[in-house]
Amino acid sequence: MSSLLRVLVTALTSMSLITDSIAAAEPAETYTPPYKTLPPAKFRGTARINNISLWYSMHGPPLTCGRLPIVFLHGRKTSSRWWGYQIKYVASTIGNPVIAIDTRAHGGSSDDISVPLTYEQFAHDATALLKHLKVARTGVVGRSDGANTALSMAMHHGEVLDRAFVFGANYRPDQLNITGLMGIMFLKELAGRQQSEWEALTPTGQPKNYAALAARVSAMQETAPMWDGSDFGRIKTLYQDPRKAPIVWVADGDSEEIVQRQVAGDIRDGIWGSSLVMLPDVGHFAPLQDPEMFNVFLGRWVEPRAGGKGR
Ligand SMILES: *[C@@H]1O[C@H](CO)[C@@H](O)[C@H](O)[C@H]1NC(C)=O
Ligand SMILES: *[C@@H]1O[C@H](CO)[C@@H](O)[C@H](O)[C@H]1NC(C)=O
Repeated sequence: MSSLLRVLVTALTSMSLITDSIAAAEPAETYTPPYKTLPPAKFRGTARINNISLWYSMHGPPLTCGRLPIVFLHGRKTSSRWWGYQIKYVASTIGNPVIAIDTRAHGGSSDDISVPLTYEQFAHDATALLKHLKVARTGVVGRSDGANTALSMAMHHGEVLDRAFVFGANYRPDQLNITGLMGIMFLKELAGRQQSEWEALTPTGQPKNYAALAARVSAMQETAPMWDGSDFGRIKTLYQDPRKAPIVWVADGDSEEIVQRQVAGDIRDGIWGSSLVMLPDVGHFAPLQDPEMFNVFLGRWVEPRAGGKGR
């Protein structure tokens, strides 16, 4: 397991990939995700949370508008800018308040190297920020590592979670698809972009050492997440409490490259009452590969619950 992960880490950090030898790409893998910045924000800055400066931005109507606030959690070694299309859509077109969070050690958030990076820590950080902002209930959209954090929030902080859109999660460290990863045509560009974006965003006073961040992220991913049925069993299900239990959509792309393809179905099976949502003709980078389609699903997910099983 960890040797496979080391291959992944080497591929993503040393950029020594020889892309000529890769297998034929699937349609979705030929997209190069275009860069997207965050839409205009009402607030961009940090809050002192759990001994770090947690960067966040707020978009759309005020938190007090009566509509459910939606938190966006990004994937590994990226930042909330990667959610630019979806944040604009949810905040402006649908009109729900949006809170975008840069995970600790990522984007504009600082790190505390005296504690390891864990999905549980990320979930505590997001929940502490909600408390700081006096938000009692929220929806969470997470992709990749952010999806794992959303699952951890559902397990440990379910009281704040009205719903979760969990895209491209895994539940054990050995569920990476190395063949699929190596076949991504824009892998080299991706690795370069992750590093240059991180270097541009990381706050002053933090060491600009991307290799150190990569090592801390790898240390986390070699051992986590390590979830089984008992962990998923902590998530209150819609059968137990149709009005308060989180609506969970376990989503993925039909051409998912990085996470093994059975995983989303497994997670769905582990969470009673959750829904499995497969987005067509996209992979792990769906929010950038086909933002309009991703937004259609988000728009449906965000609709107010009408009682009964979720809707
Ligand atoms: C807070 O973070 C700093 C920087 O990593 C660390 O040196 C310090 O020990 C931390 N303090 C606590 C109380 O965890
Ligand atoms: C891994 O990716 C390859 C290449 O896309 C694919 O053929 C294979 O089915 C995937 N394996 C799993 C377990 O997802």
